Amino acid sequence: MKPPAPNTRFWFVLGRESLIAAAEIDAVLGLKKYDYSTQILKAEISCEPKKIINRLGGTIKIARELAENIKEKDLEKIIVDELKTVSGKINFGISFYNITNITLKEIKIIGLQIKKFLKTEGYSVRYVENKEEALSSVTVEKNNLTGRGREFLIQKNPDNTFSVAQTEAVQPFEQFSARDFGRPGRDDLSGMLPPKLAIIMINLAQTPLNSILLDPFCGSGTILSEALLLEYKNLIGSDISEKAVADTKVNIDWIATKFKRELPSHKIFKSEATELSKNIHANSIDAIVTEPYLGKPLRGQETKQELASQAKQLKNLYLQAFQQFNQILKPKGKVVFIIPRFKFANEWITIDCKNEIEKIGFVALPFFEDQLRLVYSRPNQKVAREIWRFVKR
Ligand SMILES: C[S@@+](CC[C@H](N)C(=O)[O-])C[C@H]1O[C@@H](n2cnc3c(N)ncnc32)[C@H](O)[C@@H]1O
Repeated sequence: MKPPAPNTRFWFVLGRESLIAAAEIDAVLGLKKYDYSTQILKAEISCEPKKIINRLGGTIKIARELAENIKEKDLEKIIVDELKTVSGKINFGISFYNITNITLKEIKIIGLQIKKFLKTEGYSVRYVENKEEALSSVTVEKNNLTGRGREFLIQKNPDNTFSVAQTEAVQPFEQFSARDFGRPGRDDLSGMLPPKLAIIMINLAQTPLNSILLDPFCGSGTILSEALLLEYKNLIGSDISEKAVADTKVNIDWIATKFKRELPSHKIFKSEATELSKNIHANSIDAIVTEPYLGKPLRGQETKQELASQAKQLKNLYLQAFQQFNQILKPKGKVVFIIPRFKFANEWITIDCKNEIEKIGFVALPFFEDQLRLVYSRPNQKVAREIWRFVKR
């Protein structure tokens, strides 16, 4: 019998929140051995990049490693050899990661050198020039560099050798913006979760597609809509607001029609999160994935006392909600939950509920590299989101 083929080493180019994106890959694909440096995670994994890229919210590109720890002079040969396998006109581009002090001019010289060499051998070649060190997903897609063309990712190692990979798939950015900006039911006041973050949270719950999934603060239904696209079969949503319930219903129908998906079994209704057990049977839910009420939108002029008082009220709401979660979840049921933190001057006012939630009957489940919480924040934002994961004992 032949020994099993070794897994290919893939490079995952991570989005802005790279630790969260790495935790998501770990949750979906399971990482035994990996290399992780801020922007790229490398792992020997068996995966189909064009399929898996649609399941991941935090990964921008997936590439297959061609060579590692090679000398600079060998880089060109590896790229040329790969390009010679393309039939017809060759389109290619090069992206550099983790290489400081390379200029766009230097990148262009490398690209043009490869182009010139191939031309002298009789190939017809087009080189896609960089506007930044790395080509954007948009440029890669528009130039079909994961189809008939090629994009090469190059990284410099600490020992001054180079590693190179070939992009196999890029994130479907057009679909994301269609979902983010196109949905008919909107609530810009309560705020809407970015669809990518919704996917990441669902993935972090690590619950099978036939699970019963609940979002008890469903807002305009971002989490449920993304769960539908990921092909979850049983969705439940509730919210204290009549408008949110209506928005969620409209958005779920819109997503199913626009992306040609069958409507899964779903129930959306009005309920106070602290009274869920009046509407949902005990021990019936597999997973809760939710961004709860995060407090009043901040104006930036709040005093420290005002922020601390808001944090206290929210803590109260979250603990009451977890009492309910404990009743309606099946044993070993999961909760992926956002807890906000508020910026005051140069410090963060945080809400610490871990011990109380554990006393209610849960255990915090750490993420990739033993992080108890993952922090999602944008520069200059006054509210950051901590993502927590709990399992019912
Ligand atoms: C931050 S929004 C959720 C946004 C949602 N993830 C989305 O992308 O549309 C919080 C939601 O919680 C709801 N809410 C506030 N207090 C609640 C409570 N006590 N019980 C249930 N829902 C509540 C609000 O009506 C709002 O729709």
